[in-house]
Amino acid sequence: MAFDALVLDAGLRQSLVTVRSLGRRALSVAALETSSETPAFSSRWCQRGFLCPAVDTTGAYLGFLEPLLERTGARVLIPSHDGTIALLRQHRARVEQRVRIALANERALTIAVNKERTLAVAKRLGINVPRALVVRTVDAVPMAVKEIGLPAVVKPCESWLWHGQGGTRVVPRVVASPDEARRVVAELTRWGGVTLFQQLLSGRREAVSFLYAHGNMYARFAQWAKRTEPPLGGNSVLRQSIVVPPDIGAQAESLVRELDLEGYSEVEFRRDSNHVPYLMEINPRLSASVEIAVRCGVDFPYLLYQWATGGSIDKVEDYRIGGWMRDLRGDIMTTIAALQQRGRPGVAPPVQAVLAFGLSCFRLMRYDYVDWRDPLPAVKAASHFTRSLAGKVIRETLSRSRNIFS
Ligand SMILES: Nc1ncnc2c1ncn2[C@@H]1O[C@H](COP(=O)(O)OP(=O)(O)OP(=O)(O)O)[C@@H](O)[C@H]1O
Ligand SMILES: [Mg+2]
Repeated sequence: MAFDALVLDAGLRQSLVTVRSLGRRALSVAALETSSETPAFSSRWCQRGFLCPAVDTTGAYLGFLEPLLERTGARVLIPSHDGTIALLRQHRARVEQRVRIALANERALTIAVNKERTLAVAKRLGINVPRALVVRTVDAVPMAVKEIGLPAVVKPCESWLWHGQGGTRVVPRVVASPDEARRVVAELTRWGGVTLFQQLLSGRREAVSFLYAHGNMYARFAQWAKRTEPPLGGNSVLRQSIVVPPDIGAQAESLVRELDLEGYSEVEFRRDSNHVPYLMEINPRLSASVEIAVRCGVDFPYLLYQWATGGSIDKVEDYRIGGWMRDLRGDIMTTIAALQQRGRPGVAPPVQAVLAFGLSCFRLMRYDYVDWRDPLPAVKAASHFTRSLAGKVIRETLSRSRNIFS
């Protein structure tokens, strides 16, 4: 048993894309996840799916992973979840004695995973960043509300927060009233986390992805997200490849070069109502949206693998523009969320949300998971989603009828 790559966080969309990209190139790929409901395990290119009985991020996960690396002799380790990355970084020196980890160096990562630090570097480079205050405690909320106004976005500086034996992934939230702002800040700072209280922008979401190494840019790719899950932003569920916009293309590249952020990175922007771009963040890891780049001709997972092995890296000069991709599960969930959150800032009105969802069904596009050469992961993802959605509906119906009769 000797694998070219071990793909961690196999349940994520980008991990399935990675398994397929490397497998198609005749590399031997194994995948690891903590749940057996993992579509990537069913891929024809996944030579072995390892089910880790431990909960993510605890020492037990490492206790499973390290002997596995020893046994399988995997050459490259590819993590994609912020929590797994945080864990590996804590034990990086030891793990790297066994395997090459497809992550940038610590100096660059420390800045890239921290939005306060990333935005400070960006500001120095003349890149627009949203108006914001750093908020560490609930006491600072009234001042932030006064300075930034409402509605606003309360955003954890780091997406992964350690607490006790494990940790939690935390995401930005819209707040519309002082009370809500206090509640959300209290929640996001309860384990010592720091938040940014940012102005809410309402324009297009655009992202530029790179494969950068040794001072060279090996690939560039841009996309915009028409819909995301959750509605504020996060994972793009409906997206299109675009020409790299000259403004954000140059800004994103200068940031990656300044940080010397090697490997894959995705630099996200959001525009305001006047189309002025503002930096959101950098994801220094494969992002859920990466499949559109692969389908349009930029095989980032393979380039990342090439970089991680220390060998030569292909240069990709162009890609197909205008291709659409949709994550149907995410699109259904974000449409349901739009109905539940009607009237909230930045959320489409119900009729518009349902209509937009329906119209997308008639647009020619590709779908996440669906690959006719490798059909089983899509079947598995669809059956898992149908079961969990049905479970949710039944639970909600039961709790409603209990409320009516009590
Ligand atoms: N101030 C803001 N105004 C408007 N939209 C915002 C703002 N901050 C974040 N968003 C939206 O939410 C998305 C997620 O925010 P951000 O990228 O900062 O957090 P994240 O949790 O690290 O995201 P990811 O899941 O991509 O790693 C952004 O891409 C953007 O679409
Ligand atoms: Mg992020």
